[in-house]
Amino acid sequence: MYEDVEEILLDEDAIRSEVARMGREISKDYADRRLHLIAVLKGSVVFLSDLMRALTVPVTADFISISSYGTPTPAGVVSIRKDLDEPIEGRDVLVVEGIIDTGLTLSYLLRNFRTRNPASLKVCAFINKRAQRIIDLTVEYVGREIGEQFVVGYGLDYRQRYRNLPVIGVLKPSILDRHT
Ligand code: PRP
Repeated sequence: MYEDVEEILLDEDAIRSEVARMGREISKDYADRRLHLIAVLKGSVVFLSDLMRALTVPVTADFISISSYGTPTPAGVVSIRKDLDEPIEGRDVLVVEGIIDTGLTLSYLLRNFRTRNPASLKVCAFINKRAQRIIDLTVEYVGREIGEQFVVGYGLDYRQRYRNLPVIGVLKPSILDRHT
């Protein structure tokens, strides 16, 4: 996998310290509350598993899977493939994302979740890629801001591969070019 990576943006130590920082920040903000994490499959799973262990407040977790139609996606054309198992009404919800790119996925999810009347609704993303943002969003907790690079690893994929890479790396353009 490493042979397909041009540059390592976050190595394992950097990831560990970002997650620990986020864990401290979130635990402080939600002190004396119960936090309900909603992970957006599949890109968030590695981050979620680390983040939840860095939190010192009681947490519960649920998962949602969505599909989007085509790329580029017409704004908001997203559908739920696997919905939440539990209601979120009255709960303090934190959406956990691996990466936010155009913002279309999250914008759809936030609109959808708001209709379910949570007590609070915030967002946590390990990677925030604002360069390609189509919809402006507030992201309360961010691991790392990146530029336009195509990144993989730590749960993030390219054609379903590289999710198990333990670092966040920039994919070589030659790998992307093969499929464009
Ligand atoms: C990725 C990522 C986010 C979404 C962000 O998911 O995990 O959910 O894209 O992109 P956006 O801000 O442009 O909407 P993807 O559809 O690749 O599925 P995956 O999580 O299963 O890899």
